[in-house]
Amino acid sequence: MQTLLFSHIVDPADPQIAVAARIIREGGVVAFPTETVYGLGANALDPLAVRKIFAAKDRPADNPLIAHIADFDAVRKLTTTLPRELELLAERFWPGPLTIILPAAPCVPKEVTAGLSTVGVRLPAHPIARALIRAAGVPIAAPSANRSGKPSPTTATHVYEDMFGRIDAIVDGGRSGVGVESTIVSLAGATPRLLRPGGVSLEELEDVLGRVDVDKAVREKLAEGEKPAAPGMKYRHYAPIAPMTLVVGDPEKSMLKIRELAGPQDGIICFDEYFFRFKNTEYIRGFGHSSHPEEQAQRLFRVLRSFDSLPVRHIYSQCPSEDGIGLAVVNRLKKAAGFSIIEV
Ligand code: TXA
Ligand code: MG
Repeated sequence: MQTLLFSHIVDPADPQIAVAARIIREGGVVAFPTETVYGLGANALDPLAVRKIFAAKDRPADNPLIAHIADFDAVRKLTTTLPRELELLAERFWPGPLTIILPAAPCVPKEVTAGLSTVGVRLPAHPIARALIRAAGVPIAAPSANRSGKPSPTTATHVYEDMFGRIDAIVDGGRSGVGVESTIVSLAGATPRLLRPGGVSLEELEDVLGRVDVDKAVREKLAEGEKPAAPGMKYRHYAPIAPMTLVVGDPEKSMLKIRELAGPQDGIICFDEYFFRFKNTEYIRGFGHSSHPEEQAQRLFRVLRSFDSLPVRHIYSQCPSEDGIGLAVVNRLKKAAGFSIIEV
């Protein structure tokens, strides 16, 4: 398959966006930037188009997709109820990095919901994403634009690495600002439930909703056969090729532990201020200052991907605290490490 590349799209009025939108309307698959990570989009109301996303990613069929909309009104068509919490959340966090799980309307194909009775809806803040959705005139179903299991793409180059020749087009809108995916909160049960931490923090959700339950899969490894509320949380994810171990605890102590464990062939992910404290290896990546979780979120996936082109045997990583967006960073690190964790 030929993949068309729309490079350096910075203006939401760029005429190339209409071309990309037409590809989507006609049943094609287009990768596009959002403020979290790049998405792999198709017409959410066209089952055949949605199936192409699963094929391009090698995505398991039981993992549902998020429907992206450009205006609040579009959510009315996708769900059967408009709970009060939806309005509160939308008012505060939309457009933005929040996905809300709602009871699905009959028009939402089972290819999008993976057969569940609910649908995830997100109104992204990225101007190019919104222009594309508006121009397409349909909701756009989009998972992250990586091959299944890989770290999510935060640049068009990452998308190119994973998807060239497998999809119709890539819209290059520069680097994603948030760097980790959207927060997923379910309003389908009795109490709001955090299914995946992301760009909107748990504290911010609690501020609007009061009580928010946290799904077990956010912090812990699930037992064999145990089902998370967000099906995607059960898969090995974000994983670099080399096995990885997360060293959790006070940064000074985790630095000493990693110095003890890592040999010259091993990779290290550390806080920027510890960069020069590791002398034994050249495969070392800083991912932000320990006091700056936003920056860690922004850089994490790029850092994880960078190890795949290096001959590293094992990767050791320091681990931030779970405050704010830190909960999302820790969740992605734990999953990248396949829950291989050492506490210091
Ligand atoms: O930031 C994001 O959310 C990005 C950008 C492109 O918008 N998208 C993204 O999609 O991360 P994806 O497919 O990589 O992750 C979506 C997650 C999966 O874990 C999936 O299982 C869960 O959302 N999900 C989708 N629909 C759901 C539903 N109806 N109920 C529970 N979980 C759902
Ligand atoms: Mg994904």
